[in-house]
This record gives sequence, structure tokens and C-alpha cells, in this order.
Amino acid sequence: MTAVKTPIQVRYEVRNLELAAEGRQRIEWAAREMPVLKQLRQRFSQERPLAGIRISACCHVTTETANLAIALKAAGADAVLIASNPLSTQDDVAASLVVDHGIPVFALKGEDTATYLRHVRIALDHQPQIIIDDGSDVVATMVKERPDLIAGVIGTTEETTTGIVRLKAMLAAGVLTFPAMAVNDAETKHFFDNRYGTGQSTLDGIIRATNILLAGKTIVIAGYGWCGKGVALRARGLGANVVVTEINPVRAIEAAMDGFRVMPMAEAAYLGDLFITVTGNKHVIRREHFALMKDGAIVCNSGHFDIEIDLVALGELSSDRRMVRSFTEEYTLEGGKSVIVLGEGRLINLAAAEGHPASVMDMSFANQALAVEYLIKNQGKLSAGIYNIPEELDRQIAALKLAAMGIAIDTLTSDQLHYISSWDEGTE
Ligand code: ADE
Repeated sequence: MTAVKTPIQVRYEVRNLELAAEGRQRIEWAAREMPVLKQLRQRFSQERPLAGIRISACCHVTTETANLAIALKAAGADAVLIASNPLSTQDDVAASLVVDHGIPVFALKGEDTATYLRHVRIALDHQPQIIIDDGSDVVATMVKERPDLIAGVIGTTEETTTGIVRLKAMLAAGVLTFPAMAVNDAETKHFFDNRYGTGQSTLDGIIRATNILLAGKTIVIAGYGWCGKGVALRARGLGANVVVTEINPVRAIEAAMDGFRVMPMAEAAYLGDLFITVTGNKHVIRREHFALMKDGAIVCNSGHFDIEIDLVALGELSSDRRMVRSFTEEYTLEGGKSVIVLGEGRLINLAAAEGHPASVMDMSFANQALAVEYLIKNQGKLSAGIYNIPEELDRQIAALKLAAMGIAIDTLTSDQLHYISSWDEGTE
């Protein structure tokens, strides 16, 4: 598929523009659950805080991302959107963004790695002043391949835990020379998106791919960060026996005190009916573990990159591979045992389902939009580094969300305010 011009004069590379009507309807459906972003969009369309700013956004192309892209356009931005994962694009959404909103989109569900990387380079050719990244591939590729563009960058915003780990490594190596906003670390992002979003959408993806009953199954969850906590909570809620594996002793205690069995993967490998990796690291399930698994064990990943499960090793151990359902591939090992891999080891919630529900992405993307506005407002004032979303913006998003949910909360009395800002009151 080649990049062409539409009658509305934007470049694009999407699967099929005829899917636009379906995409439009689904984008509007998601918008109903995104009241915070809607308010920002309304303000942005009056104030135009991003007028003429070139933005390259690398996100999962979903109905929720579409609402972010529409808000950025309302703010006056000149934004292009590329996929942050080869399997996560919703082709109807990509079509609607091009046709209905005139936003250049380069994303195809099922694109190969070469196409994915070509789209990253198209995002760089846009000469972004702002990069919205999900996993830091655009920033890392710019640093490696297009250092000439760095001087023009005002800053980047990063959506994921994995991307922030990468940015920290870039900063330590001295190659991150502009400000980066750690959107993931906002409380209104990771408390809800990583925990309840990943929790629900991961199980949604597994169920859509396999239609298995989770009640009574032993589910091994690798990683007890915010995503792992959410998946474990929801798996228990559906009646699974949950086992957690960890490398962080504090998180391991937390998992144990939350009531889960904790053990090394080499022990869990014997027990699991279903394995879910959410660690952000590589080869968490590897050759020695496949050898120990039960016949028919299912493995999948909900961490950012597709390297948590060592599928190369699994391929080497196998004499046969076949697709048995969409996103469900059976590997037959020498000796006849089978291991089932979901979604090619890529984010199962976005490959086989639709990613996190709109209600949590509302807060995540409100953070993204405000982080971009913050970078523009503070252009030239921030040195190279990784910045948290200012607490007042985090609180503002929470307050708007609460109001939209119809939930009122208490406020401090002046006496209480004085008490928590002073030190001289103690035992009476
Ligand atoms: N990451 C996880 N879920 C997502 C969604 N629905 N849209 C965009 N990015 C996501």
C-alpha cells in the first residue's frame, strides 16, 4: 500500500477508507466515556494552544487515540499519527481519522516490522516539534538515525512504563537532550489505565482469542507492577487460581499479602494453564520453562514489547505450528506436547481486543494533551530531563473525572488545612 493523497489533501497509509463510517461511529461511542478529554477539546478549540505546532504521535490507533488526535487538531496542531504496535491498529478508526478529520494516519493492522519502522521514519520526516510516544520508538529512532531533527524538538511525552525506562537510559547515556514528560507516572494515568485498563482488557483479549473459561484455571502472572496487579485482581475475580512471579522482593511481598501464591517461574511453569507476562523485560518465559509446561498450556503477553516470551526458542523446540483460531497459534513440541501462543506474543489486549476501555484512556489522554500544552507553554524553560506531570494538572484531571462520574468528595476545613500544614500540634 503506497501513501497517496485523498481529496482532503492529507497523506495516509491505511487499510481501507471505506471503513470510515464504521470508525466514525465507534469513535463517537468511545467519546461518550471520555468527558475529561471532551472538556479539554472544547477549551482547545477556543484557545488554540497548539496552533501550527508539528506533532508526531506514535500511539495504538484506537477509538480512544482518535479522540486524542481530534482534540490535538482542535487545538490547532499539525499532527500525524502512526501505530505504536503492528497489531493494535483499528483499521476503521484509521480510515475515519483520514476521511472525517483530515488527519494523516500511517497504520495498518497486521503491518510487518519493516512497515512499522517505515512509518516511524515518516513520523520523523514530519520534523516534529512535539513527539507523543508510546514505547519511545520514535525518540530512540530519531536519536539513532535523525540527530539533525533534535534541535527542532520542544519535547516529548511518553505513555508507558517501558518507554520511561528507555528514556531514563537515554538520559543516563547523555543522548536525551530535550524535556520528556512522564505521562505514565501521573497518578491519574497508571493507577487506572495500567491497573484497571490492563486488568480488564488483557482478560478481554484472552477470552476473545480463546473463549476459555477462566474459573478454576491456574493463571500465572509474571510481574506485579500496576499492570500485573490489575490482571491478578481481575483474574481472581473470575475465579482463577492466581500465581505471581516477580524479581522485585517488595512487590513479591505485596503479591503474597494480597493473597496470591508467589514462586519462581521454574516452579510456576509446571502449574499454569495460562501464563500472562506483564514485566517490561525480555525472555521472562523461555526455553527451560516451555519444557516444563503442561500439554496445552497457553502463553500470552500484555507488556509493551513482544519480547517477554522467547518465541524464537519455542519455535526451535517445535516441530509444527498452526493457527487454530484468530490470534491463537498452536506450537507442537518435539514429543507431541503443545503450547498455545496468543497474539504472536504482542500486547494481547490490543491484538485480540480493543485495548483499555475509553473511561481510563480519558484520563491517560487528558494527561497527554495537558503535557503537550505544558511543553509548549514552557518552551525554552525546561532543560533536558524527565519531568512528572505537575501535581495540579493530575488533580485537575481527577476532579474533572469525579465530577463527570457524579461523585462529590469532602473538602478540608480551614482548621484541618492549618493542621496538615503545621508541625506544632501533636499529642493533646
Ligand atoms: N493502550 C492501551 N489501551 C489503549 C487504547 N484503548 N488506546 C490507546 N492506547 C492504549
